[in-house]
Amino acid sequence: MSRDAVTQSANDLFQQAFGAVPTATDYAPGRVNLLGEHTDYNGGLVFPMPLALGTAVAISFGGSKGTIDAVSGDAANRVVRHIEDTPDKAWTDYLVGSLKVLFDDNLPDRGLRIAIASDLPTGSGLSSSAAIEVALMRAASALTGREISPVDIAILARRAENEYVGMPCGIMDQYSVSVGSPGKAVFLDTRALESEVVDLPDSHNFVIIHSGVSHKLTEDGYEKRVEECNAACAALDVKMLSDLDVESLDRIEQLPAPLDGRARHILTENSRVKKALEALRTGNLDDFSRFLVESHASQRDDFAVSVPEVDALVEGAIEVGADGARLTGGGFGGSIVAFVQKPRVPAFVTAIESRFPKARVLAVT
Ligand code: GLA
Repeated sequence: MSRDAVTQSANDLFQQAFGAVPTATDYAPGRVNLLGEHTDYNGGLVFPMPLALGTAVAISFGGSKGTIDAVSGDAANRVVRHIEDTPDKAWTDYLVGSLKVLFDDNLPDRGLRIAIASDLPTGSGLSSSAAIEVALMRAASALTGREISPVDIAILARRAENEYVGMPCGIMDQYSVSVGSPGKAVFLDTRALESEVVDLPDSHNFVIIHSGVSHKLTEDGYEKRVEECNAACAALDVKMLSDLDVESLDRIEQLPAPLDGRARHILTENSRVKKALEALRTGNLDDFSRFLVESHASQRDDFAVSVPEVDALVEGAIEVGADGARLTGGGFGGSIVAFVQKPRVPAFVTAIESRFPKARVLAVT
């Protein structure tokens, strides 16, 4: 579906559910991360790209102060929450959390009616939650006449995740979908919150493939990695793991397992992002491809966020013609991204689908 079609679906759903046209509608894309995994909550470098898939939110005032009457996908999926509700591990938590941090002490005098439509698959590592948060904050800002910069929206959306949803994520997803635009990569220094837009080579596509193994980042694997990184910081006496440089490698090797691997991954992954950017600038696509493959190995061996089905898919992708491939997103299942020469893409997709019946090609970009 196009962005316009998704937006139209949100408007139609709003009208169907609430019997009126919405006052404001906005949209935010999903993203795929090309390189730099788990570095964002360690003050490091990331290289995501917003997608041409995304989520639209239509909104109006309605009902009593603090109520959030929301419908998503179809009219039967309608839930009423209140801004003072505690989280209940449902999709509506993203709405309550986002509106809470957005309005803070300035809650509008009336309730809100919200309709959501999306062509982004959920639970696939494509940031469907960041897309909802950012689209909602944009739409709710327009409704209430507020002006908030894209970077501030990203900061607020991350706070909604950290403080309300209970996901201790970094800022990569919210920043890339709020600040970036589809098809262009964003090189982001998550500590400085400085970014630049990077053109991608015309010769290749990125093919995003879901492994068939679903992930749930609020289950404790992700949180455990955050805790391990904090423990490694304490043991190495640094504020963030991205403070480490190659000189720190000896000290990293002396940490007890698994902290040694966790710190090593952050150090090497930051350096891969830097070198990959340089490789793209100089047109050295062999090097770029190699960094993708090395990133996967580091996620598998040092950071331990991969699963056997994803490892097999990455290896299979390279065997059937990708120049590079790696797990993308939070891990523990989810999707891979493969870097494939354009003329090879149709045969590549056919080969993947026949070899991995559980896998699903989500996007070619
Ligand atoms: C999830 C989180 C991000 C980031 C990635 C891993 O997508 O939301 O903040 O940590 O995992 O790179």
